[in-house]
Amino acid sequence: MSHWDDAGLFERYPAAHALPPGVRVDPSKHPARWLVDGEIREVGHAAAREVTSRVALRDGDTLVEPLLGHEAQLTPDDAREALAAARRAWAGGEGAWPAARSAQRVAAVARFADAVAARTDEIATLLMWEVGKPLAAARAEVTRSVEYIRDTLAEFERLRAEDRVPQTGTAGGRTHHAVTERRPLGKVLCVAPFNYPVNEFLTTVVPALLMGNVVLAKTPRFGVLANGVLLDAFRACFLPGVVAVLPGDGRHVIPALMGAASADVHCRPAAEIDVLAFIGSEAAADAIVRSHAVPITLHKVLGLGAKNAAVVLPGADVEAASSALVKGALGFNGQRCTAEKIVFVHRALADDFVARLAAKVDALKVGMPWDDGVAITPLPEPDKLAAMRALLDDALAHGARVVNAGGGRGLYSLMRPAVVYPVREGMRLHHEEQFGPLVAVSAFDDVDEVLAWQRRSPYGQQAAVWGPPATAGPLARALARFVARVNVDDVCQRGPDAFGFTATDKSGFGTLSLREALLTFSRPVLLQSPDAATLAAVVPHHPPA
Ligand code: G3H
Repeated sequence: MSHWDDAGLFERYPAAHALPPGVRVDPSKHPARWLVDGEIREVGHAAAREVTSRVALRDGDTLVEPLLGHEAQLTPDDAREALAAARRAWAGGEGAWPAARSAQRVAAVARFADAVAARTDEIATLLMWEVGKPLAAARAEVTRSVEYIRDTLAEFERLRAEDRVPQTGTAGGRTHHAVTERRPLGKVLCVAPFNYPVNEFLTTVVPALLMGNVVLAKTPRFGVLANGVLLDAFRACFLPGVVAVLPGDGRHVIPALMGAASADVHCRPAAEIDVLAFIGSEAAADAIVRSHAVPITLHKVLGLGAKNAAVVLPGADVEAASSALVKGALGFNGQRCTAEKIVFVHRALADDFVARLAAKVDALKVGMPWDDGVAITPLPEPDKLAAMRALLDDALAHGARVVNAGGGRGLYSLMRPAVVYPVREGMRLHHEEQFGPLVAVSAFDDVDEVLAWQRRSPYGQQAAVWGPPATAGPLARALARFVARVNVDDVCQRGPDAFGFTATDKSGFGTLSLREALLTFSRPVLLQSPDAATLAAVVPHHPPA
């Protein structure tokens, strides 16, 4: 027993017979499957891993992890087989999918969105068990993804219409006429994270497909069964080889893809993977990028770690800021890249702010993901409680306190969130990303202290500022030198999806949004002529009707 253990949480886990109707999962319906070359392949248990849930069940005096299904453990040879199928489907850009008319691709993606929507509940239930996400949030993740796909289709049509509008330019006194076409880039490797295993999977895979690329999609560490439900829809809507879904250990699958190269016509090595879309840790991204056969040719879009700061200035509405930051810091147990990972509050407000924050955190319901109104749920990573306790022990050893009742105490996979104050320089929580249910609060006297912290931080995703416009404005503009988005009187977040999801420094590279994703997964080609009539004859759809 450790002083962080909370035996009282044992009762929050249900016995198997007490599970509410509708949330049970039958593991026999989720065998180890993967998608390759238009075929869904099922593998035997010898080549699979049991998928169990950290949403544990009581069995007498112990907790057991229910079996949900199986995950295929693909080998490097399996990955190479998927790559060969992708190569055939791409066919140097002349395959049936990359060369298809846009209307054909739009129709396939629209059918895919309908097929995913039809299985929302099934996907959400698996997501809930696999990553511990509250059921309402798991459903919202699936519906948001379907909306994202449909909005992407609308954006695609707008982009095409804009591209077809003729442009003119003058050089050397002569007028030139041009239109733009967008072409796919090739074979795209998408790697999604476990915290949004459906949304961040589909928001890279779908725009890449819509632009005519072929996709190899590596499923995340947790969420593989939820992704597995998508296999039928992928197979039904896309031609063989256009999309592969690859479960298993990334260390076996990813290097076999990234390292692959062939000799092209000029006898120099040409990498097989043209684009990497990765959301996860910077250490993993670094290893993956380095394993690419010809790194200089790799297009990449990366969403990585973050240590987003919130700043509460004198004159801020402390009640509003503390309410918003409970959700901002602890939504999905703090396992969001966009979560506030440290809150800087002006010393004059600090006691009031910390007391309100602690009371609101204590009021959060801790329980199972299907419980009504639950906020704090089981953490999927087996070593997570130990990692959080190490950060807490370090902060406490350096003079911080846990200011809310029972904060930091936990059992098995459940942990009561902790508000830690005052967090200072020299504590790990001051600069490390916790990615879990710890709210680090630091007091400041002058905003220059906050700017100095931000300047030293290697991360650069977002920041949030609360305060009167006269002081919040200059601080927001100063923070904008170091981060990619500053939220004023609001928490850090990815949405709305029309806004660019991007970052600077070690937090990411490239931008994803409805429009930017389409641009990211394609390249513009300009068709020009000094003669407008010639251009119109060469480009059949120009000018647009
Ligand atoms: O983990 C990073 C997610 O993209 C955050 O998205 O701000 O909508 O929760 P969110």
